[in-house]
Amino acid sequence: LPAAYLSRAARRGDLTGRLLRDPAQREQPYELYEQLRAIGPLAPGSLGPVTTSHAVAGEVLRSEAFGVGWDRSAAPRAIRWALEYGDELDATGVAEPPSMLVVDPPDHTRYRRLVSRAFTPRAIAAFEPMIRRTADELLDALERRADGPVDLVEGYAEQLPVLVIAELLGVPTDRREDFLRWGSAAAATLDPGLPLRRYVAAEKALRAMHAFLRGHFDRLRRDPGDDLVSRLVGLPGEEALTERELHATVMLLLGAGFETTVNLLGNAVVLLDAHRDQWNALRAAPEGWANAVEEVLRHDSPVQITGRNVRTDVEVAGQRFRAGGRVTLLLGAANRDPEVFADPARFDVTRANARDHLAFSGGIHYCLGAGLARLEGVVGLQALSERFPGLRVDGRPVRRDLQTLRGFEVLPVRLR
Ligand code: HEM
Repeated sequence: LPAAYLSRAARRGDLTGRLLRDPAQREQPYELYEQLRAIGPLAPGSLGPVTTSHAVAGEVLRSEAFGVGWDRSAAPRAIRWALEYGDELDATGVAEPPSMLVVDPPDHTRYRRLVSRAFTPRAIAAFEPMIRRTADELLDALERRADGPVDLVEGYAEQLPVLVIAELLGVPTDRREDFLRWGSAAAATLDPGLPLRRYVAAEKALRAMHAFLRGHFDRLRRDPGDDLVSRLVGLPGEEALTERELHATVMLLLGAGFETTVNLLGNAVVLLDAHRDQWNALRAAPEGWANAVEEVLRHDSPVQITGRNVRTDVEVAGQRFRAGGRVTLLLGAANRDPEVFADPARFDVTRANARDHLAFSGGIHYCLGAGLARLEGVVGLQALSERFPGLRVDGRPVRRDLQTLRGFEVLPVRLR
């Protein structure tokens, strides 16, 4: 598309619209990102400027002049109505306050501190045997189906992260099919301009999830365990979380815990199938998996987009941002910025600076689960490649119908 047209379209608000409506753009947003990059490090968008560069996105994420403060204009219509009419929403989503993802300090600092102890490098490393065991059990089950076609998302990529986060949080793993259903509904609410029909479906699923959590919290109050959620429901006096804060926090951890990692695993398998020499090289030298996971995160980022509000007037990349405005950050475009990554469209698991990506965001909202996601990626992919070295994509993978998250809904493979 010509730059002038794109620039006008972006100004009219067609950028997000195009991505949402046009399946071709969702399939391959990188071409659109390059066209926006040609406009400059900041391209005009419907809700305000859109970042295309790594440096500007990084600066915005780290700057105190920007906050996450929830953007009502991007919320689905049903939420806006509820807010207007003063209804108390009982179906709080992962991207609505008081989820830490969308609140600024000091609340953000308090929520994050309460849970961050469970995600220190040492705490995560202690989960490695559990992750390995879970992966092996799933692969054993796949082994029994290995003669026929298998959907790797259903059989592995979504199962591993949901089982791991459920185990880590101490929620019953036998409800995992419910979590997957609820999580995928919650994931859809991250997209701005979600059609009302899909929002209503999401809200129904979220209500069911809250009902489950209510019962679970009650059980833990009576009979606490040694897990993170037991600790959160039992916080003493001043520290105690309100019911709403508890729901938002646990729902975010649970949802963020698997809705993103499933995409990392699926995207990795598809990329390595298309670059067979790299799959084989990793089989021969498995110590390369850690960098391979970084390159997958960079090349096909599971979270493509985030946004920030302008808190105080500020200048970034020669552009003035006025307090009250909004900026959209294309993380997926930052990770393809030629100023940082040589030949950025090339997939190379040995890329020296692959880890410089912004796939986990930056600043105070830097992904709390990054260490866990990396470990699940390395352990999960290495175990898969060892068990089924001849694995091939066999049929057309189907992308998830989402804009913010990028990954596969269906991934048909032949295991042998
Ligand atoms: C925040 C990406 C896995 C928990 C974020 C953000 C991104 C992200 C981009 C920040 C968004 C923003 O700045 O607006 C990813 C990716 C993952 C992943 C790509 C997997 C490949 C996980 C896992 C957990 C998790 C396994 C486990 C609980 C969180 C939490 C936040 C967060 C709690 C909010 C942090 C805050 O607001 O301070 N993630 N994530 N994520 N992520 Fe992840």
